[in-house]
Parts: sequence; structure tokens; C-alpha cells
Amino acid sequence: MTNISAASTDNSIDKSKKFIPGAVSSINRLVDPLIAFERGEGAYLWDSQGKKYIDFHAGFAPYLLGHNNKEINDAVINMIGQGKSLFGSGPVDLEGELAALLCNEIEALEKVTFLNTGSEATSLAVKLSRAVTGRDHVISIQGSYNGNGDELACNVFNTVKQIGPKVSPGEYPIQPLGAGTLIDQQRVMHIVNYNDLDSIRYVCDRYSVAAIILEPVLQNVGVIRPAEGYLQGLRELADEKGFLVIHDEVKTGFRQGIGGYSAVANVMPDLVTYGKAVANGYPIAMLGGKAKYMDQLVAKVASKRPLLAGTYNGHPVGVSAAIATVGLLKEKEGEIYDHLERMGQQAEHGLNAAFASKGVQGVVARVGSALSFYFMDHCPTDFHDLLLNHDFDRDLELRKKMIGMGVYLVPVATKQISISFAHTEQDIAEFVNKFRECLS
Ligand SMILES: Cc1ncc(COP(=O)(O)O)c(C=O)c1O
Repeated sequence: MTNISAASTDNSIDKSKKFIPGAVSSINRLVDPLIAFERGEGAYLWDSQGKKYIDFHAGFAPYLLGHNNKEINDAVINMIGQGKSLFGSGPVDLEGELAALLCNEIEALEKVTFLNTGSEATSLAVKLSRAVTGRDHVISIQGSYNGNGDELACNVFNTVKQIGPKVSPGEYPIQPLGAGTLIDQQRVMHIVNYNDLDSIRYVCDRYSVAAIILEPVLQNVGVIRPAEGYLQGLRELADEKGFLVIHDEVKTGFRQGIGGYSAVANVMPDLVTYGKAVANGYPIAMLGGKAKYMDQLVAKVASKRPLLAGTYNGHPVGVSAAIATVGLLKEKEGEIYDHLERMGQQAEHGLNAAFASKGVQGVVARVGSALSFYFMDHCPTDFHDLLLNHDFDRDLELRKKMIGMGVYLVPVATKQISISFAHTEQDIAEFVNKFRECLS
């Protein structure tokens, strides 16, 4: 995001430019260069001028199986052919089927409910944690994006001038991502650095904390991995202090395995949110977790019940796409995740070799099919580490050059590179070769 005045000379988007503020329906897409894509297939995109790109952005990560996947599309088309609809009253059989599939596969899920966007899921998770604990305060992580909810949308990319130098133990001033957030909402949010349990303890000693919400791997500022024992330590601290742990797996979910990063780390949250890859690009998100907390969504006493409502929640289009996606991930689990890991390794080794061959200081941070490169001598451990050591301008410049050469990385410094099941060894080799050229 960022460049609100990003210009494009592409006439095919004249109508968008005239009638949609900024020409895009999500400001995250307002980037420079502003390209109008017309088609996606597997690992590739084509723009309105017919130019082909190998896509490593994957629409902010949902397309784990590649664009326009036939099996997922067919599942949606079949569902429509069967006369399924949301009906607007009572349960739909498909919802139950998806819920059973997920709860049987994912250890973190005893019960689950379906929404349309990750932002709805994270906002509801926070409300539910307040209803469960009777407390107001919420901890979130500097550099973590947890959706567009009023109080949650804060402190992703910031400057030292905005948030000050690194403090531990301590917290950072709230920096809303946009205008319109009330000060009262900001007062109950507490921002600490990733991989810093002392600061979480510091906040808990001062406020009555309902929950911490975090991406288990910080994947909105590239890929910042949890330090050994961090997620487990957080789990223990939550049990000691009586707050809930919400793993926001909207971006990490399904990238490394069906159980999400919670399963990889073997640390179970109280609540967990998923979106993006769960339906390979079709719109659906979910909130799930321990049954004793999820059941509070239908608490008998109205004052204890956070409002769960949405005309399109559990819509059969998203639900049938998710059933097909999870079904495919399950059926071909070994093949899909082995391929993603191999492609990830090839990219990681290739980019590291490119840095070495060009004598440029750089590192690659990766978890499975998600990776990022940094112009640093070590992989970042928290946002301040990244802020103080990474060359953001050089990163952005390189991305723009790559786009010009037909490799699409979103032109926002540090943003995750997402590999899909559709990428081939040749695609990765081409990516690495062009990256090496761009380093010169
Ligand atoms: C970790 C995380 N949480 C929540 C969201 C919000 O999801 P959505 O854009 O579907 O509302 C995102 C989106 O990028 C995300 O990366």
C-alpha cells in the first residue's frame, strides 16, 4: 500500500479511475506500478496489455494451489448446479460438512464458525475473548496485521519517529492504520514487539488483559519467525494470567500444512482465525477454537453473547470452495506440501546464492512456501530489528525492476513471496535468475 497517487496510463481502467476512489476496492492494491491484471492461470498472470508475469504475490497469499484452479472451480459450479443457496434461514448441510472436515483435521479446532473475511474473524475473536474473560484490554504485536477492525488496524509498518526506539519490557504508542479510530478504542490496545515475552508480562501486570492476538509467524512484514520457545512461553503466560491466546492464521494457515502454524509449533491457541488459502481465493474466513469458548457465541444470557451475524456468513460459494480445497490438500497432502517445500528450498538457496555471487549483503527468511528477502546480515527477529537494519528503498526498487522483467512481486518492501503448488522448477529458476540480474 502507500502511494495513494499511483498513476497508470492503462485505458482499460478508465471506468475504475473515474468511479472508484483510487480505482481499487482495497487500498492495499493501490501500488505503483498500478497494473490492471485481466487473467490468472496457475502460477501466471496476464495484464490488460497481454504481458505475462510469473506471480509470486498470489493476491496477498490465498492462491496456494495457483490461480483459477479447475478442481476448486468445478466444486463451486457443481454446487450451484444442485440448487444450493444460503436460503437465509436455518443451517445448510454444506456448512456442517466443512465444519466436520476442519474440526477432524485441525487440532486447534473443536468448534468453528464461518465468516466472509479475515477481518470479521479477528474482530469477532477479540469480542469473544472479552465476553469470555470479562476483561477489556488486548495485546497485539508491532508488525502484525490483524485485519481492518477499528481497534485492531494499527502498528504494522511504522517509523522510529512514530513508535520510538526498541523498549523491553514496555509497549509502543498506538498508530492507527487509518483515520476514524476513537481514542477510547485505542486505549484498550497494547502493542509490544514480537518475540518479547517480558513486554507481555509488563502489560499484564498493569492492565486486565482479555487476549493477545498475533500472527504466529509475522507474515505481514515478510517472514519473521518465532524464537525457540516463544509461542510455548506465551501459551504458559496466558494460562498463568488468565487471558486467551488468539492465533491469527489468516495468512499462515494451510501454507505449511492443514493444521496451520499452530500444528507446526505444536502450541494450541484458545481461538484461531483462518481465511485466504482455506478456499484457494474464494471468499470465506473462519473463527474456531476450544468448544468451551466458541459456545459462548450462543450463550443463553444475551449480555454474555458477542454478536455473530452476517447475511453471507457460511455462503455455499465459499463453503464449497473450502470443502474442495481442504479435500484436495488432504488427498494429496504429501505431494502438495513436498512440492511446496522443494520449491521453497530452491527459491531460498537460489536467492542466497544470488546475494553471494553479487557480493550483496542479504538473507532469505522462509517458512515452507512463504519467504522474504532482506538486505540485512541476519533474519529479523522483531519489527525494530527490521526497521533499523533493512534497506526498504533498495527492496522496493528491486521489486519494481522484477515486475518490469515479468516476475510479479507486489511493489511493497518486505511483502511475502508466496509460492503455489502450480509453480514449477523452471518458474523458480527464472525468478532467481531475474533476481540476480536485478541485484546488479
Ligand atoms: C494475518 C492477517 N489477519 C487478518 C487479515 C484480514 O483478512 P481480510 O483481508 O480477509 O479481511 C489479513 C489480511 O491480509 C492477514 O494477513
